[in-house]
Order: sequence, then C-alpha cells, then structure tokens
Amino acid sequence: MFSFLRSLLEWPWLLLLNLWNHFYTFALWLQEVRQFYRYPPLIKADLLWMLDYALSSPFALSRKATQKEALPEDLTVYGETPWTTLETLCKDVGLNQEDLFVELGCGTGRNLLFVPLMFACKAQGYELVTRFVDKLRWLLHATQLDSSVEVFCQNWFEADLSQGTVFFLVGTCYSDEHLQLASDKLKEVAKGSRMMTVSWPLPEAEFELLQTKELAFSWGKGTVYIQRRR
Ligand SMILES: C[S@@+](CC[C@H](N)C(=O)[O-])C[C@H]1O[C@@H](n2cnc3c(N)ncnc32)[C@H](O)[C@@H]1O
Repeated sequence: MFSFLRSLLEWPWLLLLNLWNHFYTFALWLQEVRQFYRYPPLIKADLLWMLDYALSSPFALSRKATQKEALPEDLTVYGETPWTTLETLCKDVGLNQEDLFVELGCGTGRNLLFVPLMFACKAQGYELVTRFVDKLRWLLHATQLDSSVEVFCQNWFEADLSQGTVFFLVGTCYSDEHLQLASDKLKEVAKGSRMMTVSWPLPEAEFELLQTKELAFSWGKGTVYIQRRR
C-alpha cells in the first residue's frame, strides 16, 4: 500500500522530467539546425534518420532489444551525442581525412553519418542492438556513405581495434566490471591514438590526458576526457 502511494506521488515528477527532456533535446536539435543545415548532405542524412525512426524511437527499440535479446542492461542504456558536441570534440582532436574514426557503441549511427560528411574521414561503428545496425546499413546506403563507413553488429570488447586512430566511447552507465574490461581492451589501440571517453578517463599510465571538457548530451551535461595512447 505504502509503495503504491509512493509510486503515485512519483508519477507527476516523472512526467515533468520527461517533458523537460523533450524540450531540452528539441533545443539541442535547433542548435544543430542553425549550425549544420547549410550543408545539404547533412540535411538529407538527418531527415532520412528521422524518417527511419519516425515510428519507433531509439529509446524504445533499445529497451525492447535489451529485454528480448537479454543484452547487458548497463551497456545498452541509450542516449545521444548531439552533432554540435561531436564537432567540438572532433576539432579538438584534429580529426582529418587520414583518420579512422571508431565509435564504440554507435547506437543508431547518427554520428557515423556526420563524421565522414564533415571531416571526410573513414569511420567504423560497433553496436550490440541488431535493429540499430540493420537500420544504419539502410541509412548508409541511402546517403551513399557505405564506402566510407563500416558497421559491425558485435561487442566491441571482442573487436580488433588496431586500425583505428580516433575512438569515441560513451560509457556513462557501464558497471565497474565493464569499465575495467573496457579500460583493459583499449590498451590494445595503436600508440598515438586519440581517445574521447564520456564520464570516465582511461588510466593515466597508458593514456596521456590532453583535455577535459563539459559538453551537452541528450541526458544533460557530461564530462569528456580527451587522451592519447602513450
Ligand atoms: C549511450 S548510447 C550512445 C550512442 C552514440 N555513441 C552516441 O553517443 O550518440 C550507447 C550505445 O552503445 C551500445 N554499446 C554499449 N556497449 C557496447 C559494446 N560493448 N559493444 C557494442 N555496442 C555497445 C549500446 O547498445 C548503445 O546503443
């Protein structure tokens, strides 16, 4: 009885929070429009992405896949990096056409549409949720980016990361055990690789800290660590 009453009281707050988040993500998208909607390929990519997710939101798809495919819950918590944030980070690490940008957990792959169009580099993405990968393959084909971007439906903990030069990882909700696994795995990247990790830094002994930044994400402000493999 007591817990029923408590959950009844929590409902209005949850609704308010949800509403606030919709306004906040809409404001982030307006900033993207202001900054990037002068580039027709980016407009096309964004509109196709929206069309692809018009009937089922990435949040709902990710939740469904986590339950149905018994994926680890801490790994598959969904959130998005706005293009404005990503552009800042890519400029900070000097991303250029010689680079291979690797997104460790690429979600819907919206960032993988942005990076080759803005920075003319090749990109790779790893993702556990099969539906995201299927949809992304269609998007890459529709935007003619399939020769620039490779996507793998697999756990990046088991991937060969030796070719990447710039890595991006949102591991905000990773459990301590997965954080340890991720840190150990990332020691395999080539010397000089630039790493951008959200919420936690890689061990200083192997990765030199270049910069720390507070930037906007779909869930609010997050700290990004920019490091270089020693
Ligand atoms: C918080 S979302 C971030 C999506 C995207 N990187 C962005 O910043 O907009 C994390 C995504 O990474 C995926 N993911 C997490 N751990 C993974 C792993 N070990 N291997 C492959 N995908 C993973 C999740 O399924 C989820 O879609």
